[in-house]
Amino acid sequence: MSRFLRPVLSLLRPQISSTPPLSRINSQIVRLSSTKAAWPYIYRTQASPSMAPNLDSYFKTVDSSADSFVDRLRQAVAIPSISADEERRQDVVKMGMFLKSQLEGLGAHMEARLLGKQPGKEHLELPPAIVGRYPAKKDESKKTILVYGHYDVQPAELSDGWNTEPFKLTEDSKGRMYGRGSTDDKGPVLGWVNVIEAHQKAGVEFPVNLLMCFEGMEEYGSEGLDDFIMAECKPGKFFADADACCISDNYWLGTEKPCLTYGLRGCSYYSIEISGPGQDLHSGVYGGTAQEPMTDLVRVMGSLVDTNGKIQIPGLYDLVAPLTDEEKSLYKDIAFTMDNLYESIGSQTGIFPDKESTLMGRWRYPSLSIHGVEGAFSAPGAKTVIPAKVVGKFSIRTVPNMEPDDVDKLVYKYVQDQFNKLNSKNTMKCYLQHSGKWWVASPDHWNFTAAAKAVENVWNTKPDLTREGGSIPVTLTFEQATGKNVLLLPMGSSTDAAHSINEKLDRRNYIEGTKLLGAYLHYVAEEPAK
Ligand code: BES
Ligand code: ZN
Repeated sequence: MSRFLRPVLSLLRPQISSTPPLSRINSQIVRLSSTKAAWPYIYRTQASPSMAPNLDSYFKTVDSSADSFVDRLRQAVAIPSISADEERRQDVVKMGMFLKSQLEGLGAHMEARLLGKQPGKEHLELPPAIVGRYPAKKDESKKTILVYGHYDVQPAELSDGWNTEPFKLTEDSKGRMYGRGSTDDKGPVLGWVNVIEAHQKAGVEFPVNLLMCFEGMEEYGSEGLDDFIMAECKPGKFFADADACCISDNYWLGTEKPCLTYGLRGCSYYSIEISGPGQDLHSGVYGGTAQEPMTDLVRVMGSLVDTNGKIQIPGLYDLVAPLTDEEKSLYKDIAFTMDNLYESIGSQTGIFPDKESTLMGRWRYPSLSIHGVEGAFSAPGAKTVIPAKVVGKFSIRTVPNMEPDDVDKLVYKYVQDQFNKLNSKNTMKCYLQHSGKWWVASPDHWNFTAAAKAVENVWNTKPDLTREGGSIPVTLTFEQATGKNVLLLPMGSSTDAAHSINEKLDRRNYIEGTKLLGAYLHYVAEEPAK
């Protein structure tokens, strides 16, 4: 028996009201069952070579176009579309326009939709959502697949420790293509562009109607996109006809085994602002006479989590869905080793000694990370300054069944209590920057079956079914707004170092990943259900 037939997920279907709430409320409950009848649909219909669509000429064209596809990625990486940096907003827009013109060049109908001003920064226009349709005219006889990706990237500076210029795609002798955004998420987004081009070049009929939604603020919490998606999924609007959704914006668990992903953690991101003196002070003159905001902040931040990742906020773990024996048994079969972890983090400093606890720590338990301090001295060398105002940043990755509002309340109370204990005369404010909810869906759907068949065809192996520790805030929004299944179909691997220095995408993953996205659309077209 395939080990994929053992993990069993059955779904209590979500109740999607005709006017879904704009907040990200996950209405799905995933229940684990062990009855044979509930085996996932995904492997009830096995892929067999005779059923496989003839993809040969498409695959050959992808291979022969590989260099030009890499060149497309090179052009995209050269645009520093950093959404968190106000100064780079024009580059974010430029990247959106690059994407739009690439797709228009292939005959897609494209639109750049304005999303209004950035909340809290009213002088700043949000980058547009780039939406599109291919073929430009809908073929009523075909399924419609809505794909999403993001064209913004995390910040990057050579001085952070990159071995190569972050905004210059640099390929080494092993086909590792280094550059900010290569794997997150420009490679996968351009994968869809490559799919269209390779079909045209190969003269292969496009198997579905493709709807596209590409955003430029994902790395900043997808500001402005929720309302847009909700509105565009209404009858008669741009995304109304989607039969299923697909997002390629996550990673394999290791470097060899592809996966399909059915869960993400949520993310609630907070700031703690502590101020006192009217301006920065000389520590020789004022040290020992003025209370120091940084001292208070370090103590408050230091009380949030311990060395083994245990969050210190009382009541937080009470919000977490309990682990059942059935769920526990799923982890042992996942193709993941502690060496995969050590290779991807570049050290042996993991919290847990075993793979099951490590996967659970990443996927199904919350975590709290401390990200940085604004206003603190951080340059090399020594500066004897007392910063007047410092803002500490931390986030909590949330999991079923944590409601963001409940998490906020516990965080605010705890931070205030910790600050009160200091008896400081400084002033403290704790506030939320953004929050996105966790998402757990069912792989028991033709959308996942089609993707599993495509993986088998392209990679010659069955995919793992995984959840993820990261967050893509609009995943749940797409699910609720369309009322349809959402699949995460990653292109990159665990060693790609998204958000880190030396982010890369392997040429192999980019090219085979392009084949995979195209093959997925063909298998989708073959699935009986619409
Ligand atoms: N590609 C990631 C999402 C991701 C990360 C999936 C790790 C799987 C594993 C995405 O671009 C991202 O980084 N999202 C942000 C969202 C946040 C700002 C709400 C994240 O997870 O930090
Ligand atoms: Zn991403």
